[in-house]
Amino acid sequence: MTQPLRIGIAGLGTVGIGVVKIIRRQADLLKARTGRPIVISAVSARDASKDRGVSLSGFDWESDPVALATRDDVDVFVELMGGSEGAAKDAIEAALAAGKDVVTANKALLAIHGQALAETAEAAGRVIRYEAAVAGGIPVIKALTEGLAGNEITRVMGVMNGTCNYILTNMEARGLGYNALFDECAELGYLEADPNLDVGGIDAAHKLAILAAIAFGTQPNFDAVELEGIQHITLEDIRQAADMGYRIKLLGVARPTPRGLEQRMKPCLVPRDSALGQLEGGTNMVVIEGDAVEQVVLRGPGAGEGPTASAVLGDICDLARGLRLATFGQPATGLTRAAPASSGLPAPYYLRMNLADKPGALAKVASILGDAGVSIDRMRQYGHDEATAPVLIVTHKTTRQALDVALEAFSDTDVVAGPAVALRIETV
Ligand code: NAP
Ligand code: HSE
Repeated sequence: MTQPLRIGIAGLGTVGIGVVKIIRRQADLLKARTGRPIVISAVSARDASKDRGVSLSGFDWESDPVALATRDDVDVFVELMGGSEGAAKDAIEAALAAGKDVVTANKALLAIHGQALAETAEAAGRVIRYEAAVAGGIPVIKALTEGLAGNEITRVMGVMNGTCNYILTNMEARGLGYNALFDECAELGYLEADPNLDVGGIDAAHKLAILAAIAFGTQPNFDAVELEGIQHITLEDIRQAADMGYRIKLLGVARPTPRGLEQRMKPCLVPRDSALGQLEGGTNMVVIEGDAVEQVVLRGPGAGEGPTASAVLGDICDLARGLRLATFGQPATGLTRAAPASSGLPAPYYLRMNLADKPGALAKVASILGDAGVSIDRMRQYGHDEATAPVLIVTHKTTRQALDVALEAFSDTDVVAGPAVALRIETV
């Protein structure tokens, strides 16, 4: 009989228990597909006495993940604890040093320490796989690294945090404010232990940094991602963007530009009838554009026990089959250090402001935009009873710098009440 692939799993939470269940339930299928049994030698978590709803009998228990990672009867160390520092990093480094391959779902760790870990793995002749780290059940790492390897990638973008998309789409569908939906997400268990990872855009930015590294052959650089969360998005923004034919998404975009590598994770507008605009609830979507393939759209569940464990099993099966790829699709020592582009390519922008209802107010705004070199494409003023009128403007393509000049000038006038909202409109 072909040698079994022996794994050790550190982390028995949502994802880890999902992996245990699939390996138990689908043992015959996995063996038929890979040609060898996949067996769990040992597991680790913090609390050995916790009822995890599934029997762990038959697996050795290790209280120390490093001890698990270095066991003689472990071929592949599966890290499902999370966190960019501490136990996860220590155990993965120990596993690589002990000659083990690694499977992880840990986007924070890879976005921050991916380059060093990839170099360590490759120097040791080991492999790190991480399909579950980006967009949960969507096999986007595989698509980008393997299926699209013949393309020069021109842009990668996507909605990669289900919690944010759940909040934004339910604000529109149910007419609820951000705070009510944030509280609902907490009750439903959708939020990360630190909710700012979700609503602050950090979790999605980790994922974008990983995709950018594979797509553009660059070292993952989370610090270079321009970041903005969804906390300030109001029901008013959502409703009025919808009225102009758009939806607001926490959209990640990475692309090479003449000024460097653009990586941004910010709320922006997409056309309501586009695939991204139609994305509802906690679902994720990644759009990849290449010179030969043109555009590929991947859609699916970005989180949860089954989808994430599905991705982890994809990686384990690759290793069982002997498929061994460089961490970011090419040797880590050849990945370049991309200069970060300080601002995005020109784009149309959506502006929302409250304008004093008096003669010349609109003319003043138009003149400030004109002086800043910003051209108006469309404009709408709503009926109102108050002293200020809600005004929406869609600009032609402009730079963020030009827009900032205009926003600054607005605040110095006596006609724009409060700060104007400015959101980029992404062409998708
Ligand atoms: P989780 O439910 O919080 O489970 C974490 C597990 O790790 C728990 O079993 C915990 O032990 C164990 N653990 C934490 N620190 C440990 C330590 N120092 N030593 C030993 N064990 C430790 O997390 P999760 O949702 O399964 O996420 C796991 C990883 O998958 C993370 O990197 C996450 O970002 C990633 N991920 C998750 C999802 C998702 O939908 N959940 C999706 C994509 C990626 P105890 O149970 O004893 O406390
Ligand atoms: N918190 C993440 C999300 C789940 O809401 O998409 C795992 O990445």
